[in-house]
Amino acid sequence: MILGLETSCDETAAALVTREGHVRASVVASQAELHARYGGVVPEVASRRHLELLAPVVDEALGDAGASLDDVDSVAVTRGPGLIGALLVGLSAAKALAWARGLPLVPVDHLHGHVAALYLEPEPLGPPFLALVATGGHTLLVDVRDHAGYRVVGSTLDDAAGEAFDKGARLLGLGYPGGAALDRLAQAGDPEAFAFPVARVPGLDFSFSGLKTALAYTVRDLPPDELERRRADLAAAYQRAIVRALVERTREAAERLGASSIAVVGGVAANSELRAALPEARLAPLALCTDNAAMIASAARYLPAIAFPDYLALDAYASAA
Ligand code: KG4
Ligand code: ZN
Repeated sequence: MILGLETSCDETAAALVTREGHVRASVVASQAELHARYGGVVPEVASRRHLELLAPVVDEALGDAGASLDDVDSVAVTRGPGLIGALLVGLSAAKALAWARGLPLVPVDHLHGHVAALYLEPEPLGPPFLALVATGGHTLLVDVRDHAGYRVVGSTLDDAAGEAFDKGARLLGLGYPGGAALDRLAQAGDPEAFAFPVARVPGLDFSFSGLKTALAYTVRDLPPDELERRRADLAAAYQRAIVRALVERTREAAERLGASSIAVVGGVAANSELRAALPEARLAPLALCTDNAAMIASAARYLPAIAFPDYLALDAYASAA
């Protein structure tokens, strides 16, 4: 089995995945509550918490799989992009584990991990396909021709889609991270009640910062009692604008590339309106959409393993290359 570790943001995760792509265990310890009071992830707090959580999370994953480190044949770990201190905790732990057990190490790109969630059993999706990768930190359209990687055909010029959800949620007083709460509130609202802009930038790229500003102005200009009464309408109209942008661009990319299948991955793939608006798209199971280590171990199945001592020189990277 492959032991996967993921610590790029505020989730400490470990998983055990077989070479064939069966998930034997996937443990995710969320730090969301720890960061909620700050309205966002505090990098240094996240790193310290990863340090405390990593060993127990690995133990729990081994326990869930009924396995020991003797059953592990390689260690996979997220190398980037993400919070640099948080990434270094996972990478250092992976190096230590690999060294102590005489195992090879497989560094994995976090976004490739999100795509590789689709390769897991019981219903793996094989290339070629077009994937929309929509997370709190990134929004990409990728052309996937083989399991080992992809070609980026579009990306956001400013905010990520998840970030747009989180910032909108914050403006509506829903706390952090607010994507799921905004999704729930929107279900009680009228999406046509407000007209928010859907940016159409050239090519296959996205832009969400204008939309966020439009919501900020609308919220600022509404009398407090009306704002309170219309929060669900605001959430619904705002969500509609994000989903429209995502769906339009994804369909456009699929047409241009002649893609026969479309997949949506990343935390935003949990959004109910997006799921309904792209009924033809393949979606990873919800638990594998948001950050987890099973997707990292899954990607590692298709990547070269690095032997001792070469992996000791590996560094983490904060932003996509
Ligand atoms: O992939 P992910 O777990 O972490 C990153 O790699 O960033 O994505 C987290 C993002 C957050 O911005 C969160 O608000 C958003 O996914 N999210 C949602 C929903 N559930 C999570 N956004 C919209 N609707 C949801 N139901
Ligand atoms: Zn992610």
